[in-house]
Amino acid sequence: MNSITKSLLKSIKHGQAAWLRSSSTHSGKQCLPKLVLGIETSCDDTGAAVVDDAGNILGEALHCQKEVHLKTGGIIPLVAQQLHRENIEQIVKEALSVSGVSVNELAAIATTVKPGLALSLGVGLEYSLKLVNKYKKPFIPIHHMEAHALTIRLTNQVEFPFLVLLLSGGHCILAVAQGVSDFLLLGQSIDIAPGDMLDKVARRLSLSKHPECHSMAGGKAIEHLAQTGNRQHYTFRVPMQHYRNCDFSFSGLQNLVNKVIIQKEKEEGLQKGELLSCIKDIAAAAQHAVAVHIVKRTYRAMLFCIKHSILSPKNATLVVSGGVASNQYIRKGLQILADANGFAFLCPPPRLCTDNGVMIAWNGIERLRAGLGVLHCTDGIRYEANAPLGIDISKRVEEDSIKVPRLKMKI
Ligand code: KG4
Ligand code: ZN
Repeated sequence: MNSITKSLLKSIKHGQAAWLRSSSTHSGKQCLPKLVLGIETSCDDTGAAVVDDAGNILGEALHCQKEVHLKTGGIIPLVAQQLHRENIEQIVKEALSVSGVSVNELAAIATTVKPGLALSLGVGLEYSLKLVNKYKKPFIPIHHMEAHALTIRLTNQVEFPFLVLLLSGGHCILAVAQGVSDFLLLGQSIDIAPGDMLDKVARRLSLSKHPECHSMAGGKAIEHLAQTGNRQHYTFRVPMQHYRNCDFSFSGLQNLVNKVIIQKEKEEGLQKGELLSCIKDIAAAAQHAVAVHIVKRTYRAMLFCIKHSILSPKNATLVVSGGVASNQYIRKGLQILADANGFAFLCPPPRLCTDNGVMIAWNGIERLRAGLGVLHCTDGIRYEANAPLGIDISKRVEEDSIKVPRLKMKI
């Protein structure tokens, strides 16, 4: 039994026979599904996956460096590079072997080439180009944030255009996805990303020493502790309230939280690094301020898109993705916003919100289907640490100066 037959049987077994529809007969001939291998190394996760053109995930593998970076108090690029180097071959082999697909059967190889940590991107690109050249396969360079934005089309039936909010450790972006590689950038963080802020607060609170969350990512640890904290014990001013645009800012908020932590340490007679008694309340209040800030900017983006008929009020959709989108509190705030404005609200499942190889493979499939950026010659291909997403219309958004009405948000 060849691997295509194996994957067909596997899809049927898992009730995912959707690709039979798209790969069925054309003029009497059986069309085999197109398969893409996706490779992700933009930050601290080494991921690989094989996905077919109907969105079946045939095999995937992921190596997370989180525990190592938690110990060193943040990502050290040279360490991340070394870990990618040590793991990439094994991860790609595992994804291929689980899928039962050989490199020869692939229609293309898709790899994140921007944006991200230069040293990390370099490992994925170098490895991919070796495979591409050895097996003479087309190469599809992937924009990491485009991949986050399009993941929802793998898990749900979503047509363009849709409003997309990307919340991660490195980015905070509000955009309209108009097509596979056609985005309007409405706003983004002017300083750090929400995941970065939550990670820094978690580090300052020494959450890795807390018995309930010692191996969790910072944002996840904050979410976990906030569940049993009282957010009303502290109030952090929501950032940028007087700026009527769709940009975000989190570093001022991080400073406000730090000030409270320092003051509480003094009051409790603790040294930096010792666990405060009010840790859960601070986590809850910080998470609440992050959620309200994100909801308010997204509200303005919704009003802008409806006002300019970029989205139709009849079938508008808000998609949220990126590592921070797995936060249930922030999701709930956004769900309330979407309901109040008649938007459908969609998030990929948490494991596809954080970095993974599946989203890169799926972006490859989307590009392959649309015939966009499929390279048969890789001369001159480079990674880019910084790369904007789409056409920046954030100034146009600011010119409109849309006032956001009050929204009752009992999360
Ligand atoms: O998208 P992602 O996996 O990697 C980047 O491209 O940045 O996002 C990682 C970020 C980290 O900052 C992590 O703390 C945050 O996502 N994160 C969370 C949660 N899970 C992960 N933030 C808030 N709540 C969570 N449950
Ligand atoms: Zn990401």
